[in-house]
Amino acid sequence: MPEWLNHAIFYEIYPQSFYDTNGDGIGDFEGIIQKLDYIKGLGCNALWLNPCFDSPFKDAGYDVRDFKKAAPRYGTNEDLVRLFTEAHKKDMRVILDLVAGHTSEEHPWFLESCKTEPNEFSNRFIWTGHCFERAEGLGFIGGEAPRDGTYIINFFKCQPALNYGFYQPRKPWQLPLDHPDCVATREALKDIMRFWLDLGCDGFRVDMAESLAKYDDDKKSGTSSIWRNIRAMLDKEYPEAMLVAEWSNPELSLPAGFHADFLLNHIVGGGYYSLFRRYNNSPGKAVIEEDRSFFKKDGGGDIRLFLDDYLPRYEKTKNSGFISLITGNHDTIRTRFNLTPEELKLAYGMIFTLPGVPFLYYGDEIGMRYLDLPTKEGGYFRTGARTPMQWRAGKNLGFSSAPEEALYLPVDSAPNAPTVESEEKNPASLYHTVKEILKFRQTHEELDGRPNLEILYAEKEKLPFVYKRGSLILAVNPESQRVSAPIKVSGGSPLYSIGQGRLENGTCTLEGQSFVIFGT
Ligand code: NOJ
Repeated sequence: MPEWLNHAIFYEIYPQSFYDTNGDGIGDFEGIIQKLDYIKGLGCNALWLNPCFDSPFKDAGYDVRDFKKAAPRYGTNEDLVRLFTEAHKKDMRVILDLVAGHTSEEHPWFLESCKTEPNEFSNRFIWTGHCFERAEGLGFIGGEAPRDGTYIINFFKCQPALNYGFYQPRKPWQLPLDHPDCVATREALKDIMRFWLDLGCDGFRVDMAESLAKYDDDKKSGTSSIWRNIRAMLDKEYPEAMLVAEWSNPELSLPAGFHADFLLNHIVGGGYYSLFRRYNNSPGKAVIEEDRSFFKKDGGGDIRLFLDDYLPRYEKTKNSGFISLITGNHDTIRTRFNLTPEELKLAYGMIFTLPGVPFLYYGDEIGMRYLDLPTKEGGYFRTGARTPMQWRAGKNLGFSSAPEEALYLPVDSAPNAPTVESEEKNPASLYHTVKEILKFRQTHEELDGRPNLEILYAEKEKLPFVYKRGSLILAVNPESQRVSAPIKVSGGSPLYSIGQGRLENGTCTLEGQSFVIFGT
């Protein structure tokens, strides 16, 4: 396990929308370089960039046409390397997005694979036996290629699935995992990883990490064996490199070789979801059904909905890697959609003080809103969470000097849209709270990623929620009323507070809408 991960606090950047320095209306690598001090000042020490490789952008870059070439709209490979170098000078890390399960339909491997004449890439993708044959249980496309077969897709139509083999093959065209052509796919993925690691990147967030082997079993034994093989390579050749999975199943992903796995807040019914929202995100629109987010003032939220999901996973995996909690990401509706900045302060207080490696989505630190926008680059409902970062008052809120109509996406036009500038000026802002909490985390080793969590009070539909990490006791009360709970700790004094609280004579009392860290 790379030591740096114990202290890592990630900032996720959707490069299209972060900072445009050449006036073309879209963010670029140079923009990220210029904002490294901002990110570091906020308290984050690592970056995750959404895919920034050559792509037709039918799924915002998750459809990669050339894994080894930076998308020209962001800059060149040299610019990206400069970003690694500048980040490292500031003791920051940069991980890239590894789209392991599929490519763009325009990737040269796929174009070769479409040909009737057998070639090196014929089996790089999964083709059925003939043009009318369907692959049971898998998405497929027919009628698009000269080759007589249909091909399997991983997500959208533009994303043909790479062929890592079938764990339980049923037909001759379903190759086993150890077929030389499937092994070649795995080795090609390693080659891409080596390419960027040699250029200085610090690891990867792996897209749809669970999707590699088809017809896998419930334990994902096939996919896990592929990742263990890749992790062995990393341990040997790049022991400092990190792998974080988009899998949402740390019990499987961590033993499979990932250092961390996200618990995602878009998984309806998942415990994490209960922290932020109850909404129906399909089809197309975010509709709040019954808003009982735990952090909602007077929402009547229940911490057990989260803990009953999180704790067993945490207990099972705490010695093998990290669970990554997120404020949001490029696939989720922004938490500001249904939570106020005051409610978000408490949410971030908790997210950033639980064990694991946390991720902050750009703009969540200032409470950027979710905008209702038409789809862009395959974003659909996600588009509204991908709008330009709001830096300051004035043209395009400081994101770009391009004419408004040339922007990648419109900026928030609300007169009171928060900006970094306005939040910096206001000592009571969400931004300052984020900074304070992250600083507190960074200066108290007991709050780093390593496991030391004890639950002191977490009763169904009751408040406060109280937990302990080392000698620190942390308590949160999202509701507007004062609450108290018996705690098996005689006393402590507040070291950091949003709102107010006391810990005396075995009772923890929190005023309405408070988050307090007590030293004992
Ligand atoms: C998950 C990514 O986060 C999402 O944005 C993308 O559309 C799909 N995987 C397909 O790659």
